[in-house]
Amino acid sequence: MTFQQIEEAAGYIRSITDAPCTTGIISGTGLSGLAQAMRIEHSISYTQIPHFPISTVEGHPGRLLFGTIAGHPVVMMQGRLHYYEGYTMQQVVFPVRVMKLLGIRQLFVSNAAGGLHPDFALSDLMLISDHINLQPDNPLRGTNIPALGERFPDMSEAYDPQLIALAEKIAAREGIKLQKGVYASVPGPNLETPAEYRMLSIIGADAVGMSTVPEVIAARHMHLPVFAVSVITDLCSPGKIQKITLEDVLAAARNAEPQLERLIVGMLWETV
Ligand code: HPA
Repeated sequence: MTFQQIEEAAGYIRSITDAPCTTGIISGTGLSGLAQAMRIEHSISYTQIPHFPISTVEGHPGRLLFGTIAGHPVVMMQGRLHYYEGYTMQQVVFPVRVMKLLGIRQLFVSNAAGGLHPDFALSDLMLISDHINLQPDNPLRGTNIPALGERFPDMSEAYDPQLIALAEKIAAREGIKLQKGVYASVPGPNLETPAEYRMLSIIGADAVGMSTVPEVIAARHMHLPVFAVSVITDLCSPGKIQKITLEDVLAAARNAEPQLERLIVGMLWETV
């Protein structure tokens, strides 16, 4: 997808609303309840926006929400795009690039993930401190778009240390239990075998999921600070592996949602 297409999508959105948006938010599977903490001022269906990929996974197209959380101007993607749905990586990250052109200065991401670390419990929140990219393609492959960023973006601080410190401060104050660790991103859509979970743990991952890393790569390419949280929706360490259903994942995500919401609201409250 070209820079012109990103500009056309952003231009169309700006023809509808001039709402400010300082933080972009992508909420993960079963975690869209954060929209309830939001004062929504504008809602734009993905189907309206030129070149916007249409999300299929929840059976409804997705929407971009503009408004405020704790008085802080945000744009939230209701409905994220996954590689396993059949999109190209460039389609998966298209909305992140559009949000950057709309003016976001940081990106917050949540996802549902399997817990590889033996100390993790269901519905724990894990701050992502680093990632391992196991996706088969990269959103930056192909001709670089210099207007967005450089050819070889640095990844030494993919997850912003100051935002992690802020999250830890809020969690300590609010009594929110937090884990912290490395997120491995796999293509899916099947879940992993026990041998694959073991391998992921051996190579240094604490949680595994099917999203987030493409968006984070695109965001870092544009020098956007990123904050990301996994909600642990199933346990994948030896002896704890069980058959997983989407219902279980959604239920564990739902359980964690009030804590996640308090964390994000607390962080945005302190963000200018
Ligand atoms: N593996 C991959 N993706 C996931 C998992 C998992 O165990 N749980 C939620 N998303």
